[in-house]
Order: sequence, then C-alpha cells, then structure tokens
Amino acid sequence: MSNSGIKLWEKAKTLIPGGNQLLSKRSEMFLPGGWPSYYKKAKGCEIWDLDGNHYFDFCMMGVAACILGYGDDDVDGAVKEAIANGGMSSLNSYEEVELAQRLVDLHDWADMARFARTGGEACAIAVRIARAASGRDKVAFCGYHGWHDWYLSSNLSSETNLDKQLLTGLEPLGVPQALEGTSLPFYYNDIDTLKEIVAQNKDQIGVIIMEPQRGVPPENNFLKDVREIADRIGAVLIFDEVSSGLRMNMGGIHLLHNVKPDMAVFGKALGNGYPIAAVIGTRSVMDAAQGTFISSTMWTERIGFVAALATIKKMEDCNIPEKLIYLGEKIQKGWKKTAAENSIKINVQGVPAFPSFYYDYPENTELQTFFNQEMLERGYLASGSCPTTFAYTDDIVDTYFSNVSEVFAEIKKCIDNGDIKEKLKWPVRHNTFKRLTG
Ligand SMILES: Cc1ncc(COP(=O)(O)O)c(C=O)c1O
Repeated sequence: MSNSGIKLWEKAKTLIPGGNQLLSKRSEMFLPGGWPSYYKKAKGCEIWDLDGNHYFDFCMMGVAACILGYGDDDVDGAVKEAIANGGMSSLNSYEEVELAQRLVDLHDWADMARFARTGGEACAIAVRIARAASGRDKVAFCGYHGWHDWYLSSNLSSETNLDKQLLTGLEPLGVPQALEGTSLPFYYNDIDTLKEIVAQNKDQIGVIIMEPQRGVPPENNFLKDVREIADRIGAVLIFDEVSSGLRMNMGGIHLLHNVKPDMAVFGKALGNGYPIAAVIGTRSVMDAAQGTFISSTMWTERIGFVAALATIKKMEDCNIPEKLIYLGEKIQKGWKKTAAENSIKINVQGVPAFPSFYYDYPENTELQTFFNQEMLERGYLASGSCPTTFAYTDDIVDTYFSNVSEVFAEIKKCIDNGDIKEKLKWPVRHNTFKRLTG
C-alpha cells in the first residue's frame, strides 16, 4: 500500500488548489484516499510509486500521451541528444521547420503549422486564427477542447451546455460574462443541432470546431454534412485531433473518414509525453496568424519538436497504429468475454486504440471504484478507460485479464447481493470536476 503517495496527495491539496494541474490525474478520479497518486519511475507500461510498489498501467498511459510507452528509448535518446546540444537558445530550433514539414506531408490538404505545448492551448490558438480568418466571433463546437475562456463561456448562457460534451458541471466562474453566446454547442452525429444554431445565428458563426471521432464513428455522412455547412456559411472547420490523432493511423483520424478540415489540432500522442502540440491548416486560413499576435517564449524550446519528430519516425518505422489497434481489439474482446463469463453486463466503447467500458447498471460509478480498488491490490492501475500502448505485450494483456476475471467474479457477487457500497474501502470515485477541499 502506497502510504507516502496518499499522504503527499493530502498535503498537495493544501498547497495546490485542486491538488495538481490536471483533473484526470486527481486521485479522487480513481480511488479517493487509496490511490498511490505519485510515481518515482515509469518505464514501458510499468510504474513504481513512492514506496517502490510496482504496477502495470491499464488506466491512462500518461493520459493517453504515451503511445510508445513510458521512457521510450528512441524518443528519450533523441531528447537527451537535444539537451546535450542545448535545449534553448536565442536562435530558433531548426527541428521546428522539420516538424512543420512532416505534419504537412502527412496531411495533403494542409500547408502550414504553428506549435504550442498543450492541447487546450493549441485549440485556443486555432480558434483565434479561425476567428481572424473568418472575421466572425461565434464558434460552433462539439466535444471537449480544453479549459480556455472561449470554451467554458458556453456555460454562461446555460450551465448544462457542456454537460453532453465530455464533462458535466463546469461552472464558468471567472469567464467574462461578455462572452455569453459566443460558443454554441452541437452534438455528435446529430447534424440538426448544428443546423439549428446556424439558423439562429445567421452570418455570425465563423468557426466550427469538433472532434472528428472520439468513441462512436460518424454516421449518416455526419462529417461530410458538417463540411458542407462550413463551406456554405463561410466558417473555418477545425478538427480537434488532440485525443484521436496519431493513434489509429499516421496523422489525424479524419484521414480515415476522408473529410478534410481547414485546420487540425494535435497534442497528446504527438510527443509521446513530452510537451508539444500543433495546429496545422491551409495556407489561406493559417495566413491570418500573421495578423494576430500569438507568441510565447516556451513554444520555441527544442525538446518538444525533437520528441515529436522521434515519435512520428518510430510510429512509421514500427507500424505503431497497427499494433495499437491489435492490442485495443484484444482488450475490447477480453472485456466482453470476461464480462460474459461472469454474467455481468458491460458496454464496451471507443476506437480500438482507445477502448473503454462501463457497467450497464445504475451503480456504475460504485462498480468502477470497486474495480479500481481490487485491481490496485493485484498490482494494476486500472480504470474503465485504457488507451493502448506499444509497450503492452500479449503476455501482459493476458495476465491483466486473469486478474480482471477474478475481479469481475467479485463484481458479480456484489451485483447479486446488492452490497457494492459495503465492499468499498474508500469513498466512491469522482467522475466530474468539483471542489476537493472545504
Ligand atoms: C479532444 C481534446 N481537445 C483538447 C484537449 C485538451 O488538451 P490538454 O489537456 O493537453 O490541454 C483534450 C484533452 O483531453 C482533448 O481530449
């Protein structure tokens, strides 16, 4: 049991509002009061906590950033060489130009690129450029795009606007009231919701930003219809590929759906965990970035570019998307089979390279907490979401399922006895954003 990590997390919450910098890494999102919280070492798909306890990571793999595995030798080797030659200087990193070329080459519709460090930041840059290019303020969006004012402002007109996107209960506290009505939600595979806001905001929408696919695939020509609407109203179409990109294929997942945006945003997998994010786009749209001030010191630092180039190279050399899909399909089939063997109802979702499941019971959150608790005792950081990594092997996945099978058998008993709450050693996990302390 990781006492040091649990104690440190309690201290962190008194020093850092919210405990850390990312909701998805809060211990409360997994096992409030029982999660190891901090790591000393991570390699491949293995993690060692502050007390030296060892775990296999079947929960997040660096919040879906580490497609090649933790501490990948090739990426780290390139980064160490860059550091040896100076990670920062008064001149630019030449690798920046090389990375722009690589991303443009992977996407035949794109001509130019800008870079940042995080996904949300890159989405904010893309929206700024798109507003500048279209000359209009209003943004129609679908999906999650980060923490910035432009996005959270959607909840100024209704506190539930963002609920059906990814996270519920996001209060727009601190977001200027003046932004009310500037960001308007529409819903995936429901083209009428986009048509409706377009009709209600005639000639005002200049930007449409969406995830081309997160879980379910596009149906009934959804992406093509969005493209057509963007063209008809003269809006810039941005595909947010922060989570979906460089996982199922080389580049954005939109390439598999054969619909071209005007801009696309990448993050997460791009640097295998090193901070780098990219905005790519057509020359006519990206050119607007020359007229609007978008500039930051640390966007020029060398490691991000080098890590991204090394990650893309390894993805191509080792055919990584094919491996991620193979492993993800194995995991999806494994969850279904193990649940059926134990007569429990689960719903398996997600693209193969980013699979997830939930329990088809009203006590889903309690059951998830119990799963996390029991898997932790067996040496797994586990949850219902499991972005795949090249560091998994058949053996590692098979052994994971021997453990899942034991835990699903326990879950079946809890469901039959109706005593799941009594089986939890810690409070139920959180599944959305909320205050952590008084
Ligand atoms: C689709 C999408 N866009 C933007 C973001 C924000 O990225 P970041 O957490 O790097 O700011 C995320 C993060 O999960 C995401 O999934």
